[in-house]
Amino acid sequence: MSDAARQSTAVSVRPATAEDVPTLAAVAAATFVLACPPSMSPARVEAFVAEVLSAERFTDYLADPDRHLVLAERPDAALGYAMLVAGEPGDEDVRTAIHHRPTVELSKIYVLPEAHGTGAAAQLMASCLEWARSRAAAGVWLGVNQQNVRAQRFYAKSGFERVGTKRFLVGGVHEDDFVMERDLTQLP
Ligand SMILES: CC(C)(COP(=O)(O)OP(=O)(O)OC[C@H]1O[C@@H](n2cnc3c(N)ncnc32)[C@H](O)[C@@H]1OP(=O)(O)O)[C@@H](O)C(=O)NCCC(=O)NCCS
Repeated sequence: MSDAARQSTAVSVRPATAEDVPTLAAVAAATFVLACPPSMSPARVEAFVAEVLSAERFTDYLADPDRHLVLAERPDAALGYAMLVAGEPGDEDVRTAIHHRPTVELSKIYVLPEAHGTGAAAQLMASCLEWARSRAAAGVWLGVNQQNVRAQRFYAKSGFERVGTKRFLVGGVHEDDFVMERDLTQLP
């Protein structure tokens, strides 16, 4: 399929199910590195993928009633996924930084490179915000690597503001994140 034809093929977003576990793990393994700074070693990336993004972990995430996973796809292929976690954050820096409660964490939003800039991520985001609202959340927060400028721009376009910083453990070493938050009580 040509790039033009691929981009014009409709993207759909739906809640992920247990049948999607192999797809989620494959997309997660292919995309996690895209959010990492160039200085991060392949060994640290691999350790994080094995520990946090395995098929076993996705099976656990899907079974957790406080989590929600969504998949973006075209008829012929998965394009990306997102995961939300409802509830008070465990990280003290995040608890101090955010303003709105109850809150939901946008824990992961990852799209394959071929679908960057196509609107697939925006569709995932819209579905995530809808789920957060359905949980009566007043805000959504996320952590993003301070060097991940593309994602920060995407979040700003999606209504998020920078409210603080936190640290994020990858392969036994801490990375510096910004904490961003979106007020869900304001429309749109
Ligand atoms: C983050 C992600 C989901 C966003 O989806 P996307 O389709 O790339 O988002 P968009 O193209 O709509 O928006 C990205 C914006 O960043 C801009 N951008 C791209 N590269 C950039 C750079 N190096 N510096 C600054 N802005 C940049 C784009 O131009 C666009 O802004 P614009 O619409 O004003 O032109 C996607 O890039 C992704 O999956 N990245 C890899 C994984 C990741 O980082 N996930 C987030 C972890 S916190």
